[in-house]
Amino acid sequence: MNTKDKILKCLVENRDRYISGEELGSSLNISRTAIWKGVKSLRDEGFIINSQSNNVYKLDDSCDKLSSFGIVNYLEENLKDIDIRVYDSIDSTNTEAKRLLYSEKIKNFTLLIANEQTKGRGRRGRDFLSPEDTGIYFSIILFPKTDFNMESLDLITIKAAVAVAEAIAKNTDKEPRIKWVNDIFLDGKKICGILSEADSDFESRQIKSIVVGIGINFNTKSSYFKGDLNKKAGSLNAHNLYRNQLAAEVLNEFYNCYYNRSDEDILKTYKAYSLVLGKKIEFTQNDVKYEATAVDINDRGNLVVEFSDGNRKELSSGEISIKGDFYL
Ligand code: BTN
Repeated sequence: MNTKDKILKCLVENRDRYISGEELGSSLNISRTAIWKGVKSLRDEGFIINSQSNNVYKLDDSCDKLSSFGIVNYLEENLKDIDIRVYDSIDSTNTEAKRLLYSEKIKNFTLLIANEQTKGRGRRGRDFLSPEDTGIYFSIILFPKTDFNMESLDLITIKAAVAVAEAIAKNTDKEPRIKWVNDIFLDGKKICGILSEADSDFESRQIKSIVVGIGINFNTKSSYFKGDLNKKAGSLNAHNLYRNQLAAEVLNEFYNCYYNRSDEDILKTYKAYSLVLGKKIEFTQNDVKYEATAVDINDRGNLVVEFSDGNRKELSSGEISIKGDFYL
């Protein structure tokens, strides 16, 4: 680890207090000049570091710059050694994940996180607005067990949605809701979207890797949402929460959902957060428009709808998107 990184790690771990140059120097075994140079280059990168008096340092409370140390600081023990790659600006973390999967050996649960995406992607070929400094845009790369099949992809999105909803509910005073299958809502507006993509081996028909992309409007001003988006998109706007912290909390929750919690338990939680169940919805399939009531989510994560004649149908998110009275 270079000197600059050592200093940043120490400042992140001691966010709540000033650290003297002597303390930094002796705990990191570096000279006063090296500290001064390291602090300067961190400031040049955009970290806001206060020096109350000469040779005393602290990360400013307002500093919300993404960093791998900032994230690791809030990760649970079993996740502390995951590979984290932070990008100031990138086209899309999901696209970058795919590029990396083709070009190098990637560890399971690798996290790619960006401060800005210039070509953020949403479901069904839509764009995902990802302005700098205001959101959390990240992708988690997973290598599932060999018996994982494509039909279970909705369940992965459901686990990610539960992870986001739980992380927000546990760390803020907000009450998030989930719109099947991949949208997190707050006060009648979408604040987060999830895009899960799988790469399969044509011959063995097995899923080789999954990229779970999550985009959260963390502190996004409404002026960013132009036109129709203005009525539909919102932002978390939580107090006393950093982007690094929420990203880590989502990761902690997702790890728990993916490895520890039963599908049954996750579906129960998902349904409790649901914005859709019990509501009239519209969907289009093979160019035919249908109206029905959302009545359940089955064990594969499909939405079960009931028509007025009592007949039921299971909808998979890959085939349809739903419309309804979800916006305030
Ligand atoms: C949607 O709302 O349709 C899904 C949006 C998913 C956005 C996230 S942001 C991180 C990752 N990279 C992307 O390009 N998309 C996902």
